[in-house]
Amino acid sequence: MYRASAKDGIAWVTGASGGIGRAVARELAERGYVVATTARRADELDRLAAEEPRILSYPGDVTDRAQMARLVAEIEAAHGPIALAFLNAGVYFPAERKGFSAEVAWRTLEVNLGGTINGLDPLIGVMKARGKGQIAINCSLAGYSGIPGSAAYGASKAALIYLAEALKLTYDRVGLTFQVVSPGFVATDMTAHADFEMPFLMSAGQAATLVCDGFERGGFEITFPRRLAYAVQLASILPYPLRFYIMRRITSFHQQE
Ligand SMILES: NC(=O)c1ccc[n+]([C@@H]2O[C@H](COP(=O)([O-])OP(=O)(O)OC[C@H]3O[C@@H](n4cnc5c(N)ncnc54)[C@H](OP(=O)(O)O)[C@@H]3O)[C@@H](O)[C@H]2O)c1
Repeated sequence: MYRASAKDGIAWVTGASGGIGRAVARELAERGYVVATTARRADELDRLAAEEPRILSYPGDVTDRAQMARLVAEIEAAHGPIALAFLNAGVYFPAERKGFSAEVAWRTLEVNLGGTINGLDPLIGVMKARGKGQIAINCSLAGYSGIPGSAAYGASKAALIYLAEALKLTYDRVGLTFQVVSPGFVATDMTAHADFEMPFLMSAGQAATLVCDGFERGGFEITFPRRLAYAVQLASILPYPLRFYIMRRITSFHQQE
């Protein structure tokens, strides 16, 4: 399994204007990488780049397929090969907790699934040609089993886990490494307005350390916190009556009014 290092090239992090992506960009820079960062808020990326000279600002919207292809080409032309990519940009709309809506569901899928696909396509092209590259996709423990109030968000993350599994099996023999990152609750803008208690909540900085350790360690899955991850993963392999029982217990904090 190929594991990227800073001597092989630079890192690219999407969704780096805040939260987990921003913390991972910083952590990768501390670990020696030059890091290209992408998100829509250019001012936040510029601020980050001004704070850390190894971080570069490449604003963009992951839902724009042509723009993502152009960005990968621009980054590589200016700074050399992308050895490690963290496709992290994502959204959760709290409106999901009020009830199911096609509009919210499609907007969620467009960013979380579509945006990741738009990054994967140009990355796989250039990495396959080089015979090496590491791509990690930020999924979620929500992708392992249905969670009330998260139908679209969880579906987008379940689709990403499937995508990563299939891409790993398709490309690992030609030197490409795929990883899924599946965090529990992390304190970011995404969770700032949660109206329920979040078990084992951790800071973005703590999450970034675990994510970057996982990049270095290799292996397909980077999941944390361990206790929540074990419970959710165990539930996902049980027959449905048991699975629903456990998920109801785990998500009792998350019930809709
Ligand atoms: N926080 C958690 O508890 C948690 C748990 C499991 C998984 N995750 C996953 O972790 C990832 C990061 O989430 P976070 O918690 O760090 O949330 P966050 O603080 O809200 O950050 C989300 C990032 O995604 C970017 N983004 C959103 N839409 C985009 C678009 N169309 N194009 C480009 N960038 C876009 C945002 O930047 P702009 O607004 O500037 O575009 C921002 O940088 C997500 O995939 C999320 O699903 C989070």
